[in-house]
Amino acid sequence: MFITFEGGEGTGKTTLIKDVAEILSQDHDVITSREPGGSMIAEAIRDVILNPKYKGVTPYTEALLLAAARAQHLDEIILPALNENKIVLCDRYLDSSLAYQAYARDLGLEFVLNINQYATYHMPNLTFYIDLDPRVGMARISNRDKYDRLDQETVLFHQKVRDGYLKIASMYPNRIVTIDGTQTIENIKSQIIAKIRENL
Ligand code: TYD
Repeated sequence: MFITFEGGEGTGKTTLIKDVAEILSQDHDVITSREPGGSMIAEAIRDVILNPKYKGVTPYTEALLLAAARAQHLDEIILPALNENKIVLCDRYLDSSLAYQAYARDLGLEFVLNINQYATYHMPNLTFYIDLDPRVGMARISNRDKYDRLDQETVLFHQKVRDGYLKIASMYPNRIVTIDGTQTIENIKSQIIAKIRENL
């Protein structure tokens, strides 16, 4: 089973995935991973995408690098784990490219889906979208000492990301479960675990 977690900045996805993995590991074989990255080569591409020193990365290059990192991650990590019947929990996947590149960067769904065609053959069984006002999310990460190139975008950009996610969630209602990100992490976690168990 392939499960992805989506959302804007400061939605607590990283902690959630760690906790959910720990709970599911009690009776299943679970691996966790993240995008962009997840394998040595994909992590090298991640650095080009997110390092603020590469300010000149254009929107098309950004989208193509993300698709390349995703193809590598699929072949090296996700598909082998699924073939071994493991549960794969992934922090971000194709929906991130739809929200950030297709909507917020205005590249359009058609272009982003085309360059990610390989990933469209391997869609998650279930996706949790943690929905949160970006002003709340960005306030939560304001005490971080390091910001990547996308964290440094404006609130307006992150608002477009959220609008994008809400549209995508309404396009794929059977796959994407929208979770209210203002709830406590404990509440969010129990909703997610219940939904996964229902689908296992
Ligand atoms: P990360 O530090 O993993 O962010 P977060 O903790 O918020 O998940 O950085 C990933 C950044 O890359 C995040 O700002 C979203 C962005 N991104 C895209 O724009 N498109 C994509 O397809 C993916 C996978 C990530």
